[in-house]
Amino acid sequence: MKVLVIGSGAREHALCRSLSLDPAVTALHCAPGNAGIADVAELHPVDALDGAAVAGLAKKLDAALVIVGPEAPLVAGVADAVREAGIPCFGPSKEAARLEGSKAFAKDVMAGAGVPTARSYVCTTPEEVDAALDAFGAPYVVKDDGLAAGKGVVVTSDIEQARAHALACGRVVIEEFLDGPEVSLFAVTDGETVVPLRPAQDFKRALDGDEGPNTGGMGAYSPLPWADPKLVDEVQETVLQPTVDELRRRGTPFSGLLYAGLAITSRGVRVIEFNARFGDPETQVVLARLKTPLAGLLLAAANGTLTDLPPLRWSDDAAVTVVIASHNYPGTPRTGDPIEGLADVADQDAPDAYVLHAGTRRDGDAIVSAGGRVLSVTATGADLAQARERAYAAVGRVRLDGSQHRTDIAEQAARGGAA
Ligand code: AMP
Ligand code: GLY
Repeated sequence: MKVLVIGSGAREHALCRSLSLDPAVTALHCAPGNAGIADVAELHPVDALDGAAVAGLAKKLDAALVIVGPEAPLVAGVADAVREAGIPCFGPSKEAARLEGSKAFAKDVMAGAGVPTARSYVCTTPEEVDAALDAFGAPYVVKDDGLAAGKGVVVTSDIEQARAHALACGRVVIEEFLDGPEVSLFAVTDGETVVPLRPAQDFKRALDGDEGPNTGGMGAYSPLPWADPKLVDEVQETVLQPTVDELRRRGTPFSGLLYAGLAITSRGVRVIEFNARFGDPETQVVLARLKTPLAGLLLAAANGTLTDLPPLRWSDDAAVTVVIASHNYPGTPRTGDPIEGLADVADQDAPDAYVLHAGTRRDGDAIVSAGGRVLSVTATGADLAQARERAYAAVGRVRLDGSQHRTDIAEQAARGGAA
């Protein structure tokens, strides 16, 4: 099977790595990709947001499956363009991707499906904003309605900051603060059948101890030894299946990857947000543990045949990923710095630890930084402590001037605590 992956992050590198290990995949392409993905897939310089160009490339390559990684192309309708060209595509339609593209739409779907989430108001005027902030009290949670690359949410006890963010965004969702550890649970769905993957936890703040600004994600681990073993079944029943059923009922079936961002509160599980694609960096640890070949799973979702698929097989290993980010991330990152030590990781840590690339590009013989999140160093082990040790040993071999990473990814969980 010839497969084309759209995107250029560590998530797409993780997808491509798994696909490259799947014997059913005879040719692997990626557009636009990055310097690391080039090791496992042939790269094509296509604008990921241009549906006609992506569909044209898929036709030219005779792809049997296109996998759209990031949210922006999905929200732009790239999956629709690929399907209209007659090629199976993993990723929701433009309409269904609104589950991620509009927080207000997601709230409406959850209300229709009876899915537990924070109480919220959609606000467009200063009066509505003030009334909503007043209704919930501190800490305030203010979310830009549209896509904001993980940076549209402000959680603060400072009412002036909350108000300023709301006014800067225009249309916002203001909601009740949810207390409790967060879990990311992904499900593969064809619009009807829902196959949950294993839960992971992401570290969204830039600095150790969950300090500093929100980011796209600075690290992740799986499994979650502290979580209730019934969590996946419960979320499948109360969140994932009802949401997929509701979207089908509305005439906009969701096929692809449904990402539930959850808070485990004292009053039960609540949805913080939905995303319409694999999460980054959680995908790196979830796929590190998946033993079922990936291409067949994603093709079954694209073709509507998930119900025929045998149960997924998982490794008992634990996985940890640590993101190495550029100087100044999540502000405007410094780019163009050379990355050294990648060969040392390949020589000394493989196959237990490996580097997945995000913002990198080739510059002559060198590989240089080209974005905010640069690398996602991923490791597996018999337990979280071993996976963590291996991940940080590999991080220690990578040199990138001015770079930053968190030193506490999976630390508490490896010691037996919650997050
Ligand atoms: P989102 O983009 O909706 O995932 O929000 C980014 C981060 O903001 C989440 O991972 C949470 O850490 C935090 N957050 C979002 N909504 C809430 C909420 N209602 N209560 C507490 N924290 C929240
Ligand atoms: N890890 C958070 C996200 O992918 O949105």
